[in-house]
Amino acid sequence: MARNALITGGSRGIGLGIAEALAKDGFDLAINGMRPEDAVEDVLSQLRSFGSDVIYVPGNIGDGEARKQMVSNTVEHFGKINVLVNNAGVAPLQRLDILETTEESYDRVMDINLKGAFFLSQSVANHMLSVKQQMDNGFAIINVSSISATIASISRGEYCISKAGMSMVTQLFATRLGEENIPVFEVRPGVIATDMTGSVKEKYDRLFADGLAVQKRWGYPEDVGRAVVALSRGDFAYSTGQVIMVDGGLTIQRL
Ligand SMILES: NC(=O)c1ccc[n+]([C@@H]2O[C@H](COP(=O)([O-])OP(=O)(O)OC[C@H]3O[C@@H](n4cnc5c(N)ncnc54)[C@H](OP(=O)(O)O)[C@@H]3O)[C@@H](O)[C@H]2O)c1
Repeated sequence: MARNALITGGSRGIGLGIAEALAKDGFDLAINGMRPEDAVEDVLSQLRSFGSDVIYVPGNIGDGEARKQMVSNTVEHFGKINVLVNNAGVAPLQRLDILETTEESYDRVMDINLKGAFFLSQSVANHMLSVKQQMDNGFAIINVSSISATIASISRGEYCISKAGMSMVTQLFATRLGEENIPVFEVRPGVIATDMTGSVKEKYDRLFADGLAVQKRWGYPEDVGRAVVALSRGDFAYSTGQVIMVDGGLTIQRL
């Protein structure tokens, strides 16, 4: 039976890079995003062209009812979830100095980036434990955080806090699920070329040329996709709870 993955925010950007890489590796997919299904038909057909069974499970991961629906639709279709990729995330709608951050923006970013991933992990982990007796291993939870988990950006503090929290979500679930042989990982991308970074393209073109990262280029969704495939298929069998950097060496301290 083919293994499958539920990827939040799998319809664009990094999530789509992960979806393509997993489809090429033979995974079936449940893709989550916010847009209605007819708006992502092209994306779904492209993923199906790799031979994967692909369903779309839309909904806001910050919302409990929507999370319940996406998990039950995925389990109803595939009978199981092998891999959960908590990738969906948002930047603040407006960058404001932390002396000006609004509660509204804080709540929005934390609900989507952190609360959504925590409770989706809880729900999928309970599902994994409930089906574990009937099938062999091959489960994993992979959290996409950011270098913002450790690098302070004072104009988007709520985003940094949400990503730092994602690191603890990874450690908590890795600890709880370790004895069940369900590994949990954090993938920490650097600056990746997607819609999220589209508005700062020129700035980062310059910064990369000036040596922001050791590898003098933008990261691409497929860079993250390759790392997630290796984690999903069990290549890191004795590394639960670890952070996998995909940042071109941006966070290496240099003098
Ligand atoms: N780009 C970077 O440089 C970078 C670096 C480090 C970490 N990250 C992290 O990587 C993840 C993906 O980022 P990206 O750059 O690929 O973002 P993106 O291009 O803006 O794509 C965001 C994806 O998430 C979905 N989404 C947004 N809000 C959602 C919600 N409330 N519920 C469910 N799905 C939602 C979107 O669905 P629709 O297509 O339907 O809108 C889309 O598929 C995020 O967690 C981000 O923080 C990004």
